[in-house]
Amino acid sequence: MYEIPTLDTSYQKPAAIAVLTSGGDSPGMNPAIRGVVRAALHQGIKVFGINKGYSGLIIGDMWEMNSASVTNIVQRGGTLLKSDRCLAFKDPAVRHQAAEILREKGIEALLVIGGDGSLTGAHLLARESDIRVLGLPGTIDNDIYGTDDTIGFDTAVNTALEAIDKIRDTALSHESLFLVEVMGRNSGFIATHVGIACGAEMIVVPEYEVQVDAISFQLANNRAQGKGSSGIIVVAEGPVPGLTYNLARQLEQHEQKPKVCILGHIQRGGSPSGHDRILASCLGASAVDYLCAGYNDIMIGVRQGKITETPLQQVIEKGKQLDPALFQRALLLHK
Ligand code: F6P
Repeated sequence: MYEIPTLDTSYQKPAAIAVLTSGGDSPGMNPAIRGVVRAALHQGIKVFGINKGYSGLIIGDMWEMNSASVTNIVQRGGTLLKSDRCLAFKDPAVRHQAAEILREKGIEALLVIGGDGSLTGAHLLARESDIRVLGLPGTIDNDIYGTDDTIGFDTAVNTALEAIDKIRDTALSHESLFLVEVMGRNSGFIATHVGIACGAEMIVVPEYEVQVDAISFQLANNRAQGKGSSGIIVVAEGPVPGLTYNLARQLEQHEQKPKVCILGHIQRGGSPSGHDRILASCLGASAVDYLCAGYNDIMIGVRQGKITETPLQQVIEKGKQLDPALFQRALLLHK
């Protein structure tokens, strides 16, 4: 459970707020919305749900939510409010229009649940308008600075693990080598965590160059140690589509016969884990407290078990890096 900060929530209580989910959806967005709605209503604040992220905001597609609007969603994957990647929001004129729409409806503050692109939009809107904007880290990638965990990461890791444990059965039966691709265009958090937990023979992440010779050597070494010739290599998808198939072709030149399995979007779906439900609920409700205490232009995250705030500017500028020591530890475990 998380330590919740004590804030003076009577300082700058808004009359009405809005909430949206943006970017790639992540399991736990629903409990986060529920946390926001229930905490706001408890404070006597009106809450509007915006459909389809910033795309809905810029056309004023929103509805007033009540306690029943969020009933029975804590266990559901996806997002009740739907999501979108809205490129138009990169345009300052469009953000100006979004602020106008919120003002017209008497909405003083906006809560944005999403990943780095969505939080960048939140920061720009906060900086350029009188709307107060707070972010919540909602992405399976866990690549957000200012929080140890993002909403959805734990579920995505467990979804991938469940699939890989099954692949391991058939890999063992047929003595086959599998390259299993997990999500993570720019970061290897999912791959590293999944790789450790499934006992992968090797992990490939965007942060480090792929060493085909080293993989081949590792596989040969495993055989020499009597570990058999089956194996699982967990590969983060990386920025360029097709990376895992390329790697398979390169390994074929080293006399390996890998099969490729792309896990894809199943990692974004499914019922959120207990961990993600608790994280999302606490972050959603705390975001309302931070708003009522007068905060603006921050992201609410969790660090060392404590709910805490980080300026959105820092969140965007710093980005979270994969811990090299953890990655090295992961590789060592596979030897
Ligand atoms: O941002 C989360 C994420 O799931 C990444 O891990 C993945 O690279 C990307 O979204 C896929 O996005 P899309 O569904 O738009 O292709």
